[in-house]
Amino acid sequence: MALTFEWCGTCTDLELNQLHAEAFATPPTPDAGRNWTDLLNAHSLGWVVARDGDALVGFVNVIWDGLAHAWLQDTMVARRSRGHGIGQRLVAMARDQARDAGCQWLHADYGEHLKAFYEVACGFSPTNAGLFALT
Ligand SMILES: CC(C)(COP(=O)(O)OP(=O)(O)OC[C@H]1O[C@@H](n2cnc3c(N)ncnc32)[C@H](O)[C@@H]1OP(=O)(O)O)[C@@H](O)C(=O)NCCC(=O)NCCS
Repeated sequence: MALTFEWCGTCTDLELNQLHAEAFATPPTPDAGRNWTDLLNAHSLGWVVARDGDALVGFVNVIWDGLAHAWLQDTMVARRSRGHGIGQRLVAMARDQARDAGCQWLHADYGEHLKAFYEVACGFSPTNAGLFALT
């Protein structure tokens, strides 16, 4: 694999919608119409793009409070490219960039089945967190 990782790399909405639909099994609409370009530019500290040659194989979004806290959102690797350390490298670059931006804490929430990925491979500490369904 000719892998590259780029902070705030360029992606089309089509590429990201396709990767997101594959990673999270989202229905074709309304998620397939997400305008990633506008959302990322308005709400993110940055994001990491992984490509194998020209093909988008991984992505993670880093949103933040503008100060001390940053959060990972939509960590995703194309199914055919999983198990090669791409997810780990996406998260490592996101962590380094958040630190360089002056953040003190990087948050991630995940299901039980991804504890090995986030806590063993990526180094997150388990913590208490809450979730309130608004809809
Ligand atoms: C989670 C995800 C990003 C991991 O990407 P990846 O490139 O396959 O991960 P890595 O190769 O860097 O994995 C590093 C280690 O984490 C662990 N790991 C990775 N994915 C795992 C999974 N699905 N279940 C359990 N452990 C996992 C393994 O220990 C792995 O090391 P190994 O391959 O030597 O066993 C990818 O599976 C994905 O896109 N899943 C669908 C979307 C999703 O659920 N994202 C997370 C939202 S919270």
